[in-house]
Amino acid sequence: MLEREEPMNVGANSAASFARARNVFPDGTARVTIERDPTPRYVQRGVGSHLIDNDGRRFLDLNCNFTTLIHGHAFPPVVEAVTRQLQSGSCFANPTDIEIALAELLCSRIPNLDRIRFVNTGTEAVLFAVKAARAFTGRSKIAKIEGAYHGAYDWVEVSQAATPESWGDAAAPASTPFYRGMPKSVLDEVIVLRFNDAEGARRLLSIHGSELAAIVLDPMPSRGGLTKPTPEFIAAVQETARSNDILVIADEVLNLRQGFEGASARYGLVPDLIALGKIIGGGLPIGAIGGRSHVMSVFDASAGRPLLPQGGTFSANPLSMVAGLAAMTALDHAAFAHLEQLGYAVRDGLEQSIAKRSAPMSVSGAASLFRIHPTRRVPNDYREAYPSPQGATLMRALTGFFSKNDVILPNGASACLSMPMGRSDAEFIVDVFGGFLDTHAGLLDEIEDGN
Ligand SMILES: Cc1ncc(COP(=O)(O)O)c(C=O)c1O
Repeated sequence: MLEREEPMNVGANSAASFARARNVFPDGTARVTIERDPTPRYVQRGVGSHLIDNDGRRFLDLNCNFTTLIHGHAFPPVVEAVTRQLQSGSCFANPTDIEIALAELLCSRIPNLDRIRFVNTGTEAVLFAVKAARAFTGRSKIAKIEGAYHGAYDWVEVSQAATPESWGDAAAPASTPFYRGMPKSVLDEVIVLRFNDAEGARRLLSIHGSELAAIVLDPMPSRGGLTKPTPEFIAAVQETARSNDILVIADEVLNLRQGFEGASARYGLVPDLIALGKIIGGGLPIGAIGGRSHVMSVFDASAGRPLLPQGGTFSANPLSMVAGLAAMTALDHAAFAHLEQLGYAVRDGLEQSIAKRSAPMSVSGAASLFRIHPTRRVPNDYREAYPSPQGATLMRALTGFFSKNDVILPNGASACLSMPMGRSDAEFIVDVFGGFLDTHAGLLDEIEDGN
């Protein structure tokens, strides 16, 4: 029998808030992604690398609002910039110089980003990137990676939650619906590839080449396993896309934080379009679509109606722009070097803990990101990362154990490090993990038996 799951140790004040919330939100939460077990932890405030919950408990935050807060909570330059801007107005139907400044910063540091448009979420960024590829090529189908998360646009939701029962043939994955009632026409418009399957990518992109507008690729899909792409896979996608006039859309909404120039540059991908979000807004809502000038010309309305009209009431709002500018300006080469070292220290420490105890676990990730898996080998793709029932139980227990030890560790997604963290935080994370391994021998044995 499995050991009892560790609860999230939520206090009385969070429980009281949840009781109120259940009267107004379906299931009591405002987002499906909220961690609960079964009660979510309500937060009062954030300070640097920590957050303080409604019961006054202080936690090291390895979620950072789903990897957004690369400078931690309430980063003073962002607080100052937003406070100043708020006093001068929060949104206008006119352009501002601030949007130009953030656009200049991003275009100057991210390769292949000649032109850019701002929106308010990563979802919108991916949505407009897909539409731009359609407008540019005159084709409607897209290809995407099984299990990869790209936000809430129907076409990129296909096969996001495929299961062993539904995912079909490994050589030609099925297009599976994400929600009941998803139009069959959407499923018919999406070709699904397996991450790191170079041969499959070449074959499927070639077969469907003349109908595909784009391949949407997160260079390191977090929910798919946070596994590094192999050079062969990147080359297969890139070359087959080029030879079939399929555009490459890099979804860097999450993985831009992997380096000064972003994740595509790190892994040798040369995208035609890039979707951005999260860190570029400094903690305020943001998204952006950028890319090569000739592709981005689909948005150009200077000669009349563009091929793809794109607007948005709050797009390029000055609050998000000043927050993003403050956050991104502070993210210089030295900042990325710090994050790189911190990430290495954590992953290396976790791996050593696993090796010392010969535990059936592994660690993936890069730069400031890491993900712990209930498998002896780092999974190569979504199918390999799909947890067994024993694996899922172990990971819930891990999140619970971290929470008991005052650390917020996301379950089933990337954990992230932030600028205010230092070597002592890295050591603390590794110590807590070692404590978990030492006290959960029963659960670890179950994993070995279940795999
Ligand atoms: C890779 C990726 N793309 C797109 C999105 C959607 O971004 P948003 O939640 O801002 O809509 C996310 C969000 O987590 C993401 O990780």
